[in-house]
Amino acid sequence: MDFRIIHIEETDSTNRWLKENGEGTMVVVADYQTAGKGCGTNSWESERGKNLTFSMLIHPTDIPASQQFRITEVVSVALCEVLERYLLTVPELAEGLSIKWPNDIYVGDKKICGVLIENRLQGNVIVDSIIGIGLNVNQTTFLSDAPNPVSLRQLLGREIDREALLHDFLETLETVSSSETTYSAYRNKLFRLGKQAVFLDKAGRFEGTIQDVETDGRLLIRDLSGQERRYAFKEVQFVI
Ligand code: BTN
Repeated sequence: MDFRIIHIEETDSTNRWLKENGEGTMVVVADYQTAGKGCGTNSWESERGKNLTFSMLIHPTDIPASQQFRITEVVSVALCEVLERYLLTVPELAEGLSIKWPNDIYVGDKKICGVLIENRLQGNVIVDSIIGIGLNVNQTTFLSDAPNPVSLRQLLGREIDREALLHDFLETLETVSSSETTYSAYRNKLFRLGKQAVFLDKAGRFEGTIQDVETDGRLLIRDLSGQERRYAFKEVQFVI
C-alpha cells in the first residue's frame, strides 16, 4: 500500500474528512479532532497534539464484502504487533496486549486504542473502506467518562515519537496484509478467549466463555448452560 499522508492541524473527524475529501489510497492525520467519533454514538477523546488520531482510505479489491471482517482482523493484528514492539521493554505489559472483540486494543484491562471502520459496499464489492484509528500515545489525563483509557506514555513512563509510531504502524500493516496467519493471529490475541467472564446482552447479564469469532465477525460465546450464543457487533458487551 502506497499511502499519501496528509497532516492537518484540526478537523471535526478524520473519518468524516476522508469521506468528503479522500482520493485514492491515503492517510489523514489530525493533531486535533473537534468531534472525534467513537463506535456507535460515543465520541473519542484525544488531547490536542498528544496522540495519534488518523484515518486510512483503502480500496480492498481482493476482499469481497461478505468477508469485510478481514479488514478488522488485519488492522487489529497490525496494531497489536506494533504496540508489542513498543511494550517489549516491560514484558508483562507486552504479554497483556489483546484485541477486545471486535477491534479495541487492550493492555491488561485498559484500552489503549480504538478503531472505527466504515465500509462502503456495492453488492459484494467493498468500494472503499475508511479505517479510523485513535491511539493513546502521550496523553496522561483522560477527562471523558470513557471507562478505562490508558496511553503508551502512562505505561512506559516516557514520551513517544508519534510520527515514528505512525510509520512503524503503516509498515507493519503492509506486512500483516500479506501474511497468511492473520486469521489465527487475531483469534490468538482475543481478550478473554477461553476464560469464563461476565457479558451483557439485551436480556441482561450472563456468564460464559468466548469460543471463537466467526468469519463474518460474529462473536461465539458458550454460556454456563452450554448453549452457544452468536452476537453481531453491539449486540453484546463485556463487563470489565
Ligand atoms: C472506538 O470507539 O473505540 C473507536 C474510536 C475511533 C477513534 C478514531 S480517531 C481517528 C478517527 N476519526 C474519528 O472520528 N474516529 C476515529
